[in-house]
Amino acid sequence: MTTLSKLKAYMTGRKALLPLSLGLSALSALMGMLPYILVWFIIREFIYHGEIGASTKIQTYAWWATGLAIGSIILYFVALTASHLAAFRAETNIRRQAMRKMVNSPLGFFDKNSSGRIRRIIDDNASITHTFLAHQLPDLAATIVMPITAAVLIFIFDWRLGLACLIPICLAMILMNFMMGHKGRKFMQMYMNSLEEMNTEAVEYVRGIPVVKVFQQTVFSFKNFHNSIVRYKEMVMDFTNLWQYPMSLYTVLINAFSFFIVPTAIILINHSDNIALIILNLFLYVLITPIFSQSIMRSMYLTQAFRQAKESVDRLDDLLSVAPLPAAKKSLQMIDFDIEFRKTSFSYPEANKKAVDNISFTIPQGKTVALVGTSGGGKTTIARLVPRFWDVTDGEVRIGGINVKEIDNKELMKNISFVFQNTKLFKTSLLENIKYGNHEASLKEVNRAVDMAQCREIINRLPDGLHTKIGTEGTYLSGGEQQRIVLARAILKDAPIIVLDEATAFTDPENEHLIQKALGILAQGKTVLMIAHRLTSVQDVDSILVINNGQIAEQGTHDELINQQGIYTNMWNEYQQSVKWTVGK
Ligand SMILES: Nc1ncnc2c1ncn2[C@@H]1O[C@H](COP(=O)(O)OP(=O)(O)OP(=O)(O)O)[C@@H](O)[C@H]1O
Ligand SMILES: [Mg+2]
Repeated sequence: MTTLSKLKAYMTGRKALLPLSLGLSALSALMGMLPYILVWFIIREFIYHGEIGASTKIQTYAWWATGLAIGSIILYFVALTASHLAAFRAETNIRRQAMRKMVNSPLGFFDKNSSGRIRRIIDDNASITHTFLAHQLPDLAATIVMPITAAVLIFIFDWRLGLACLIPICLAMILMNFMMGHKGRKFMQMYMNSLEEMNTEAVEYVRGIPVVKVFQQTVFSFKNFHNSIVRYKEMVMDFTNLWQYPMSLYTVLINAFSFFIVPTAIILINHSDNIALIILNLFLYVLITPIFSQSIMRSMYLTQAFRQAKESVDRLDDLLSVAPLPAAKKSLQMIDFDIEFRKTSFSYPEANKKAVDNISFTIPQGKTVALVGTSGGGKTTIARLVPRFWDVTDGEVRIGGINVKEIDNKELMKNISFVFQNTKLFKTSLLENIKYGNHEASLKEVNRAVDMAQCREIINRLPDGLHTKIGTEGTYLSGGEQQRIVLARAILKDAPIIVLDEATAFTDPENEHLIQKALGILAQGKTVLMIAHRLTSVQDVDSILVINNGQIAEQGTHDELINQQGIYTNMWNEYQQSVKWTVGK
C-alpha cells in the first residue's frame, strides 16, 4: 500500500474531501494564471492605442484580472478548508486507533517500547500527517498544474520564444535530477540518520546529568554527544562541498532565461513586421517564466515531504504491527485459583535462547510459592506469564485448570493483583492512586487498606492526608513508602491471585519491616507467586523454586533446601554474610 492510500484509510467518512481539495487547488492555480493573460491584453491595448484612456476594454480587463485573482484566492481557501477537514479526521483516527491498539497490546509490549517512544511516534506522525494532508498535498496540485499551463501558454503565444525560455529551464531540471539522484538520496538518508543520532545523544546527555555529576565524569560523557555533533558537522560540510558547484550552476541557469529570450526576440524582431507583438509577448514571458523555477523549488520540498510522510507512516505501522493477544473464545468465570505451569517454555521474540525452559510446577490455591535465583535467571519472565504479559511459546499456564489463553482478559485482570519491582504511582492524589485497585471502594475501605498496608503514618504526615497530590509541591515519597502505597492498592483490589516482584533495592530496616508486614497481610488466603530478592522473606513460604537459566534447579521449603547443600545453601550463606556486613558496618 502506498503512503497515500494508507493515510486515506484513516480519513473515514471524509475521503472524498481530499480529491475535492486537490481539484479546487488546481482550479485555483489555473485561475491565478489567467490575470497574466489579461495583463497581456491590457498591454496590447495600451501599445495599440497609445494611452490608457483610449480603450474602454482596458478597464474591463483590469476588473476581470482582479476578479479572477480574488476568485483564485477564495478557491484556495475552500480547498484548504476541505483538506484540513480531511487531515483532522485522519489525525484523530490515527491517535484513536493507536490508543486502541495500545490498550489491546500484550503488556510485554510496553517493556520494549518506552512510553516516551510511543508518544513521540504517535505525536510526530499526527503532526507530519497534518502538514502533509492539509497543506502539502493541495500545494502539490498547484505545483503540477502551474508549470504545465505555463508551458502551454508560452507555446501558444509564440513557440519560438517559448523554446528559448525552456532551454535553460530544461538544463536546470536535468541538473536538479542529477543532484537529487542516487548520491543526493543517499546523502539525505545519512543526513537524517546523523540528525537523529545527534538528538538521541543530546537526550542521553541530559538524562545522564545526575549520574555524571555524582561520578564526576563530565568530559567522558560529553564525548559521545560531542562526537555526534562533529559527525553532523562533517556531514553538512561534505554536503555543501558536493553541491557547491551544481547548485551555483543551477541558480544561474534557472535565472538565465533572459540570456536566451532577449537575443531570440531581437532575431525575431529583425525578421518580422509585427514588432509590437513580439515585444508584447516578451512581457508575458518575463511574467510567466519565474513560475517554472518556483515549481521546481516547490517540487523539491514536496519530494522531501512525501519521503517524510512515508517514513512516519512506516514507523507508525511498525509500532502498531505488534499482534494483539488472541482473545478468549468464550467468556467464563474463574472459580478456582490454583496456578499450574505445564512444561512451559518462553523465548523473547529476538532472543536466541529460551528465557523460560520447560518448567513445570503448581501453586495450590491459597499457598505461596517463591522464586529465587541469580539475576537474569528468568524469574520476572515466569511471573509475567501468569497475567499474560506474553503468551507462552510452548506448554501451558493454567489457573483453576483453565489455560490462561482461554480466560477473558478482563476476567483474568480482575482476579490477579501484580506488584512489580518498579510500579509507578500516578501524579494524582494518594486516594486516587490507591483507588486504582478498586474504583468503587468506599472511603472506609480505602482507609482499611491504608492501615493494613502500614501506610497510616505516611498519610498522617502529609498536609492534605489522603488527598495530597503526589509529585506536586514537593510531595515525593521514598521508594519504600511508594511500595507500601502500591501494596495498599493491591490490598484494596482484593484479588485471589497475587503476583509479586519484590523491589531489589534495600530499604531501611524499619521500612523493610513494614513492607514485610503489609505483604503478609496482602498474602493471607491468596494464591501467591512471589519473586524474592531478600531471602528473609522466603523462610516461611510453602515452597521455594531456585531458578537458574530458565529452569528449576532446586525445589522445596527453606529447611529442605538448606539440607540439600546446593545452590540455595550457597545463596543463603552469602545472604547471611551480606546481612552481617550491613549490620556490622
Ligand atoms: N523484554 C525483554 N526482551 C528480551 N529479553 C529479555 C526481556 N526481559 C528479559 N529478557 C532476558 O530474559 C532473561 C531472563 O530475564 P528476567 O528478567 O526474567 O530475569 P530475572 O530472574 O527476573 O532477573 P533479576 O533477578 O535481575 O530481576 C535474561 O536473559 C534477560 O536478558
Ligand atoms: Mg526480575
